[in-house]
Amino acid sequence: MMEKYRETLGLLVGLFSLVAGIDRSHFPPDFLFGTATSYYQIEGGYLDGNKGLSNWDVFSHTPGIIEDGSNGDIADDHYHRYKNDIDLMHSLGVNSYRFSISWSRVLPRGRFGEINSEGLSFYNKLIDYLLLKGIQPFVTLCHYDIPQELEDRYGAWLNSQIQEDFGYFANICFKEFGERVKYWSTFNEPTVLVNKGYRLGIYPPSRCSEPYGNCSVGDSDIEPFIAAHNVILSHATAVDIYRKKYQRKQGGSIGIVVSTTWFEPYSDTPIERMAAARASAFEIGWFLDPIIYGSYPPEMNQILGPILPTFSSSDKKKLRSSLDFIGVNHYTSLYAKDCLFSECYLGPFQSNGSVLGLGYKNGVPIGPKTGMSNLFVTPNGMEKTVLYVMERYKNVPMFLTENGYGQNTSSNLSTKEILIDEVRVEFLRSYLTSLSNAIRKGADVRGYFVWSLIDNFEWLHGYSERFGLYHVDYKTQKRTPKLSAEWYKNFLKGGEDQ
Ligand SMILES: *[C@@H]1O[C@H](CO)[C@@H](O)[C@H](O)[C@H]1NC(C)=O
Ligand SMILES: *[C@@H]1O[C@H](CO)[C@@H](O)[C@H](O)[C@H]1NC(C)=O
Ligand SMILES: *[C@@H]1O[C@H](CO)[C@@H](O)[C@H](O)[C@H]1NC(C)=O
Ligand SMILES: *[C@@H]1O[C@H](CO)[C@@H](O)[C@H](O)[C@H]1NC(C)=O
Repeated sequence: MMEKYRETLGLLVGLFSLVAGIDRSHFPPDFLFGTATSYYQIEGGYLDGNKGLSNWDVFSHTPGIIEDGSNGDIADDHYHRYKNDIDLMHSLGVNSYRFSISWSRVLPRGRFGEINSEGLSFYNKLIDYLLLKGIQPFVTLCHYDIPQELEDRYGAWLNSQIQEDFGYFANICFKEFGERVKYWSTFNEPTVLVNKGYRLGIYPPSRCSEPYGNCSVGDSDIEPFIAAHNVILSHATAVDIYRKKYQRKQGGSIGIVVSTTWFEPYSDTPIERMAAARASAFEIGWFLDPIIYGSYPPEMNQILGPILPTFSSSDKKKLRSSLDFIGVNHYTSLYAKDCLFSECYLGPFQSNGSVLGLGYKNGVPIGPKTGMSNLFVTPNGMEKTVLYVMERYKNVPMFLTENGYGQNTSSNLSTKEILIDEVRVEFLRSYLTSLSNAIRKGADVRGYFVWSLIDNFEWLHGYSERFGLYHVDYKTQKRTPKLSAEWYKNFLKGGEDQ
């Protein structure tokens, strides 16, 4: 059976490279090619080595929250299998690996307790083994997770105290790992963090108000902006520390990773073109405008006015150009439907720009559906997004920090159906082609990371959504390469038929 499977793989990989039309030579020689993961989605070992509880440990244990009733207690058991997983990366031929450090593993009680030497030791071993295999660590400091104690003590992102606490954590990471880590990002997808945590209330700390959601506490019109403000200033605090104390000596760079949707106007009218522009400003500009230009986007100011917190002049000074690169996570396009001039079914949605993001128009999806109901296969959106970021931010260096295809396996697909993932191969091929077009048009993109190395805990969807290049059998923790892993390996080798 396995032999037959290998044979099929070989045949299909050959076939794909023949029709591909995209290969390694379309990208600069020093380009980073990698895979991406995050702490909570793969590590497991949630109490091992003196780790403290993170907000996601607590949240995922709340009954009824995760679709398949699962949690990240064990996940991919990467905490115990990291060497094996790095060996997989090495066999793919990647030269970099994007992962996140668990704040609660390094500081189980945040700033209110000791530094956990066992936590440091885990990341030291991980980083050393990556470097031994010729793989550059590309590290995220906060991928949605915080020590639960910060939530319990003072309300985490709603309290400006977190700026100092995040700086304290970041400083420890720069000091302990910065001689070996040359790429730092402060946050992963802060728009998702604050929108899901404080507007929709579907991620911790589950705060929201109607009509956005039905939580016991929160205010969807106000709190996302307070949380975002503290995230932005926490970013600036960490960057300030890095630049003053470490950067010259260690020679690395620091940035932030944002989520990006490409918004197509629902209809080709000035009003809906404006709606699409607003939606991008509310998703991307919300964080990048302050971090690069020192103030919130004009598109947000117009709609929100005094709801937006203000930056003091010393904040502004600290903020300006407080990054070396922009990390871009990109998966899908959506239609942007205006709710400012026309009626939308739930009201004006002022707090997210008065725009509805829709996957369908007249019942037709914007692109082929994926296993995630809100993500579609829309490769041209990649080029458009990268060019948008290039133009809005004067071609600051970019890394494409996430892109990948989720397969919904809750309807009991056979392992074979999961392993021969031709749709994922086609997805990666078409998005990489689109990315190479953006580079040809002048975008300074320096790397690309597939989400994800291995199937893992997909937040609210648990283990039923599979994004991995490697299949994981969660009963045995066995990893098996999918067709896409073979394809990526072949692509990185330069292909067979150039
Ligand atoms: C919100 O939840 C409460 C308690 O579960 C319920 O009684 C109420 O109908 C819900 N409201 C909406 C709009 O869903
Ligand atoms: C704004 O929020 C509403 C309610 O959650 C949602 O339906 C809509 O798609 C959001 N708009 C965008 C652009 O995400
Ligand atoms: C996956 O499929 C199941 C049933 O087939 C569906 O209920 C669920 O919403 C899907 N998940 C996503 C994230 O679209
Ligand atoms: C998938 O399999 C499980 C266990 O065999 C079963 O409980 C579930 O109903 C199946 N789901 C579907 C959508 O067929």
